[in-house]
Amino acid sequence: MSFPVDVVVMAAGKGTRMKSLRPKVLHRLGGRALAQHVIDCAARLSARSVVVITGHGAEQVEAGLTTPLGSGESAAPKLRFVRQEPQLGTGHAVQQAVPVLADDGVVLILNGDVPLIGQATLETLLQACDGQHLALLSVDTGGDATGYGRIVRAVDADRSVHAIVEHKDANEAQRRITEWYSGVMAAPAALLKPLLKGLTNDNSQREYYLTDVVKHAVAQGLVVRAVTTRDEVEVAGVNSPVQLAELERAYQRRLAHGLMEQGVRLADPARLDVRGELLCGQDVEIDVNCVFEGRVKLGDGVRIGANCVIANAAIDAGAVIHPFTHIDGEKLGVSVGRGALVGPFARLRPGAQLGEDVHIGNFVEVKNSTLAAGAKANHLAYLGDATVGERVNYGAGSITANYDGANKHRTVIEADVHVGSNCVLVAPITLGAGGTVGGGSTLTKSTPPGALAVARGKQMVLEGWQRPTKKKS
Ligand code: UD1
Ligand code: CA
Repeated sequence: MSFPVDVVVMAAGKGTRMKSLRPKVLHRLGGRALAQHVIDCAARLSARSVVVITGHGAEQVEAGLTTPLGSGESAAPKLRFVRQEPQLGTGHAVQQAVPVLADDGVVLILNGDVPLIGQATLETLLQACDGQHLALLSVDTGGDATGYGRIVRAVDADRSVHAIVEHKDANEAQRRITEWYSGVMAAPAALLKPLLKGLTNDNSQREYYLTDVVKHAVAQGLVVRAVTTRDEVEVAGVNSPVQLAELERAYQRRLAHGLMEQGVRLADPARLDVRGELLCGQDVEIDVNCVFEGRVKLGDGVRIGANCVIANAAIDAGAVIHPFTHIDGEKLGVSVGRGALVGPFARLRPGAQLGEDVHIGNFVEVKNSTLAAGAKANHLAYLGDATVGERVNYGAGSITANYDGANKHRTVIEADVHVGSNCVLVAPITLGAGGTVGGGSTLTKSTPPGALAVARGKQMVLEGWQRPTKKKS
């Protein structure tokens, strides 16, 4: 685009029909707030700035939205919030942004509750605007347009746009018009600002309608251009839980098709949920009912079994995640090495780092622990705050007692150690390389390399013990 674009996102409305305590534009679609989708789209357009108009739940909305990272050579747009109190209509909303809109740019107005508006469509609209004209995005699917503002065109051959008439203000004939206004428009700031000044609220809703700028522009002899889309998903607004769920499915359907086009084999595209970013290598297979959250990377040839929930994780080539596994990397992330086998029913928590060919079996929980290549914990075990060496075999029912009630301590299990079943490793502790821990042992002291440690049935210590207190960190 040869002109700077400043985006205005309208997000001050109440969204009464959501019947929710949360501001409407913060409801999530594909794991992101509705208005965040709009801001992210503005960033992809290389907008210079994004001004979000807030009102209802303003503080929450302002805290809940961020500017995305810049992509490629284009910097992230500058994100600003402007309050609209009280909310006197969409025209009044845009009026609040006027002081922060530079005169040399094109203003692109978007709705905070229309999340799936597409970059290509907006680029077409900006081309129609061409830095000079008022351009609006209309929709015509030939069907019912109840509730929307109708596009009234001239009856002559050029069918130029005359006005937008709100449903509540429209007469019978106008209500039969199937072309409606999407809520998206673009206009040079220098042209838009004076038009906004001329708005009045003499209509059935006593609101300052943004849509009235069209008739004022036409009255001044300006040409109003319209770009028409047939894609209802792109312009669909979210006003109710039903619409939110329907749009979520539409979004997931698109995402699933995109993955399949890349070559990912989905057992059923209707039973996949991506609430973030899923990056897949070649020859990846995903069974039904899997949920991916945050940023998940699947390497070449990875297999994901049915009913897995995977968040913020990198799974390397050839690894297999068996059914019903829960992987949640949160901030620290989880990594699964090449050829590793995880699950069924495994739980990997933040900071779990599995090396090549590691096996984590059923009902095994791993948290903030590193397992080197070939280490195995196949059944019913807990590894927390542990460093586990190569080829270690960790028996069923064994746990690291990493928490003394106040502080966490590390367990180090060196290469080739065998830990039998039902062992309790009381951290801090180090088990020297190649050692063996007899089943049922409770170890409270470190062991030298190659040692056999068996510690069962020691007497209880009742005196002289004090509950530890928390270390200052
Ligand atoms: C608006 C359009 C209508 C169009 C429809 C498309 C006007 C007058 N009408 O109607 O032609 O067909 O969108 O969805 O523009 N908002 C504010 N402050 C306000 C009022 C609204 O920020 O004072 C925000 C809302 O949060 C929402 C957006 O503006 O994000 C649209 O408002 P809404 O009341 O939903 O407009 P509609 O009546 O649907
Ligand atoms: Ca309304």
